[in-house]
Amino acid sequence: MHKDLLSIEDVTRDNINDIIKLSTIIKQKRWTLEEKPLLGKTIALIFAKSSTRTRVSFEVGIKELGGNVIYLDQAKTQLGRGETIEDTAKVLSRYVQGIVIRTYKHEDVVELAQFATIPIINALTDKYHPCQVLADLLTIYEYSEKLDGVKMTFLGDGSCNMPNSLILACKLGGIDLTITAPEEFRPSEEIMNLEIGTGSAKWEIDPIKACEGADYLYTDVWVSMGCEDEAKKRLKILAPYQLNEELMSVASDNVKILHCLPAHRGEEISAGVLDSNNSIVFEQAENRLHAQKALLFLMMAEKHVIDNLLK
Ligand code: CP
Ligand code: NVA
Repeated sequence: MHKDLLSIEDVTRDNINDIIKLSTIIKQKRWTLEEKPLLGKTIALIFAKSSTRTRVSFEVGIKELGGNVIYLDQAKTQLGRGETIEDTAKVLSRYVQGIVIRTYKHEDVVELAQFATIPIINALTDKYHPCQVLADLLTIYEYSEKLDGVKMTFLGDGSCNMPNSLILACKLGGIDLTITAPEEFRPSEEIMNLEIGTGSAKWEIDPIKACEGADYLYTDVWVSMGCEDEAKKRLKILAPYQLNEELMSVASDNVKILHCLPAHRGEEISAGVLDSNNSIVFEQAENRLHAQKALLFLMMAEKHVIDNLLK
């Protein structure tokens, strides 16, 4: 696997297959797994934004794999006082064996990876959230027993980190993705045009048309971290794209509901849909832990340990 995970562009279809296979083994053997690939290793978590799932699942996952964790609030490091990313990367590379980073500008994470000699994992930027979509692919595989040909519709802000990442993950995984969003929040043409995998991604402005026959309906908050100033405008423009009972009724009979969480009931999703029997959002959240442990295995364990588990 590539040294870093900055976006799904760093991942191959074979990596996806390995992550799904390894996650399944790691999940089954959560309390009995003998392999401790992070023994003696320390991973730094640098977070400039809030987090519940990502921080806790990484901290728990790293410890379950035998490693140590240092959590750093980005603002309280010297980065928050203007030390360069380059110097930070060079210093931290001498102390720790990997960095998980959640910040604003994607370019900052790219720069960190450029100057660090250790693996860098993107734990969310304004552009991408690759760890989330790896867990999403695992969740879809668990329910559909395949990825190829699955139909998924994403509703809401089509231009933020989640749809950006889903476009790449669905294409790589062979999933057919429709993003339904208003003109103001339409998905990035540039990302949709990236040639990666056998799946597809398209934009459909009409939410009813977009949801017809979907196997999975997925949504995310309308006001992403860093967009709080636009909250009023966003809530108004995105209102027709709420994932609610009406839209769920046109999807496939057995449709499953996905949400990366945190959810805002009554905004991007109705309480009835989020809490319905079709909703698998907590299984999806749990899978963050298993998929990230598999990712850490692939990035940091010795090859023979991985091969042994995969065989
Ligand atoms: N889905 C997700 O990344 O959640 P957190 O913001 O709580 O980490
Ligand atoms: N788009 C959301 C995802 C949260 C996990 C945000 O960036 O806030």
